Amino acid sequence: MLICKIFYNYKLRSNGIMKMEEGKESFYQTPECHPFVKWAGGKSQLIPQIIRLIPLRFARYFEPFLGGGAIFFQLASPNRNAFLSDINYELINAYKVIKNHVEELIPELIYHQNEYNKSPKKYYYHLRDSISSMNKINKAARFIALNKTCYNGLYRVNKRGLFNVPIGRYKNPLICDTDNLRKMSVVLKRSGSFLEVSDYKKILEKAQRDDFVYLDPPFYPISNTANFTSYTNNGFSLEDQKELATIFTELTGKGCKVLLSNSNTEEIRRLYSNYSHLTQVINVNRSINAVASKRVGHTELLIRNYI
Ligand SMILES: C[S@@+](CC[C@H](N)C(=O)[O-])C[C@H]1O[C@@H](n2cnc3c(N)ncnc32)[C@H](O)[C@@H]1O
Repeated sequence: MLICKIFYNYKLRSNGIMKMEEGKESFYQTPECHPFVKWAGGKSQLIPQIIRLIPLRFARYFEPFLGGGAIFFQLASPNRNAFLSDINYELINAYKVIKNHVEELIPELIYHQNEYNKSPKKYYYHLRDSISSMNKINKAARFIALNKTCYNGLYRVNKRGLFNVPIGRYKNPLICDTDNLRKMSVVLKRSGSFLEVSDYKKILEKAQRDDFVYLDPPFYPISNTANFTSYTNNGFSLEDQKELATIFTELTGKGCKVLLSNSNTEEIRRLYSNYSHLTQVINVNRSINAVASKRVGHTELLIRNYI
């Protein structure tokens, strides 16, 4: 019964979900777009499992560990506001530029595409190591070009805050996905999205009763060697995970609906033991692992505070 109701709002397609607005004769169809970055812990492959758990009704949408925003792009609606944030300045700058200046961004990306195609390695390191003054559009174009061509789409900076990921192994990376960027721009504008560089705690102060919060923090590592949690120069420690669990409980107290993704480890299960009856274990492949054989056979947790 619940599944049927959910499918009234979200109809699964082979490549995603087509959104339907309730109570309208002709339904609004959000342009179908996908994350513009390859991002560690990106949720694209888990969309069907996560969408099934999204509450049927909610007021505003919060995604404070935004990354590539795979879930936001499935839920975006012109009928409600979305508070989208991440601690990574470069990432949020790129979102804002896509939203407000996509037609200025596209020629810059085409330029990077052409230069990269002429001499991939030379151009990659030239772009990576160029720290000359740039405006926000130049910065967004550089960020996207590096993300599309660096090793595994990793984002890692050194102590001076400079991006230091080596070149990836791609044959023909698509740096300028014009069609997707234009669709993203439409979705970000129509959905009344607020984009902010912020620590998750600050943005969640705005969350109120009936808002829905999707939390996808850097995962608690399964083993020491599996530690890929450093997306910025600040990692996310066990202490941070404990603080997040406290905030999960505070949001519950406020009447927010909260869904959290995390690794299936003893520590995380213990932190959310009060929600064990609302916790699902799901299978997942980890595309970020350098060793192909270690990318399969993992499980993750989806923990929620509502039925
Ligand atoms: C697992 S990724 C999110 C992936 C995203 N759901 C997707 O589909 O691509 C975690 C994100 O949290 C961000 N982050 C790390 N620490 C943060 C903090 N204290 N506050 C807000 N964002 C943070 C990282 O920059 C990263 O983008």
